[in-house]
Amino acid sequence: VVDIRKLYGNTGAFTYDPGFTSTASCESKITYIDGDQGVLLHRGYPIDQLAEKSSFMEVAYLLMRGELPNPNEYDEFVRTITRHTMIHEQLAMFYRGFRRDAHPMAIMCGVVGALSAFYHDSTDINDPVQRRIASHRLIAKMPTIAAMAYKYSVGQPFLYPDNSLSYTGNFLRMTFGVPAEPYEVDPVIEKAMDKIFILHADHEQNASTSTVRLAGSSGANPFACIAAGIACLWGPAHGGANEAALEMLREIGTPDKIPEYIKRAKDKDDPFRLMGFGHRVYKNYDPRAKVMQKTANEVLAKLGVTDPVFDVARELEHLALNDEYFIEKKLYPNVDFYSGVILSAIGFPTSMFTVLFALARTVGWVAQWNEMIEDPAQKIGRPRQLYTGATARDYVEITNR
Ligand code: ACO
Repeated sequence: VVDIRKLYGNTGAFTYDPGFTSTASCESKITYIDGDQGVLLHRGYPIDQLAEKSSFMEVAYLLMRGELPNPNEYDEFVRTITRHTMIHEQLAMFYRGFRRDAHPMAIMCGVVGALSAFYHDSTDINDPVQRRIASHRLIAKMPTIAAMAYKYSVGQPFLYPDNSLSYTGNFLRMTFGVPAEPYEVDPVIEKAMDKIFILHADHEQNASTSTVRLAGSSGANPFACIAAGIACLWGPAHGGANEAALEMLREIGTPDKIPEYIKRAKDKDDPFRLMGFGHRVYKNYDPRAKVMQKTANEVLAKLGVTDPVFDVARELEHLALNDEYFIEKKLYPNVDFYSGVILSAIGFPTSMFTVLFALARTVGWVAQWNEMIEDPAQKIGRPRQLYTGATARDYVEITNR
């Protein structure tokens, strides 16, 4: 084989790193992960402490501004976000162009991308004020957009935001409330949902965040960049895994069927994988999965739900963690393993799971996008490639081929 690079006298070296397993694309101060130890810190604070003691709005402030807010800063931030919860009335019409059985993630990609057509006054990425307004708009409008995607798919009327409620309470009401009846936000569910949002808020340079940064590196507006992140998150190896994990647990059905599925997961001729297991970075227990398992216990107890899927999940975890294959490959439950059980108990259809992930991750995407724009070392992202195609050859007229 002729090395085409030598043909052109090109002998410069570069790294070949599929999946970027050992290449950093940026510097960041936002999130630290130690995958071997199972550690996740946001701006230095451990994820389990944030999930237990903080709120999603506070974590949003922390990720974006770098420090926890004092009471005044917190109130001002919540007020600002609350001011932006409405979406342009014309955007509601945009939904009506979708088939009613469209996947809500398909709607999310379209509607969030379309925000740039409605909010021209916050698309100049070189203006810090516009960047801040766009960031607040995205965080504030995501619950409204997500709830509307759900309402559209079930054929119910859209509900306007109720700004007297918390960020999470408002989202629950817009999703599950109906105009004809009062809706009481259950504080246990509200707290659990808020925790789930915290657990999904950021995870450094995962595929969707890297997508947001790469799209943003060309100077694209923030709404377009977040829409790109949503598209990437949709994949079953990333945000779509919680949907796939619950479907797998339901398919397993009863604990006696688990060994059969574990056997399949270990069979190299079978493409089947245990969904919700394994992680590119965590080679230890995903710290978010621990909080998620505890939250699942709390939610099921509060709702009085005895879901056999939860028993299957616990038994599957137990068997896999004691299996040679999973031990050797360091495969542990990830954040998606238990989240589906909780979300399903709360009443979300599986098609909404990734939408909820996108809602929460918007905070991380926005924080990372801002950090990138403000980084003086920032350049357009342009990976190299290792060319393996045909060597240089002369064009042949079509009649001679
Ligand atoms: N079940 C069975 N075997 C697995 C699993 C699994 N869930 N995950 C990885 N393995 C095996 C692979 O077959 C591979 O085996 P080999 O060394 O014999 O070839 C080895 O473990 C390493 O797997 P890779 O795919 O190379 O690891 P990678 O870091 O690229 O993938 C990923 C990580 C995509 C998360 C993978 O573990 C997976 O597909 N898990 C299931 C999907 C899932 O739960 N995704 C959610 C991730 S978390 C998130 O996005 C929020």
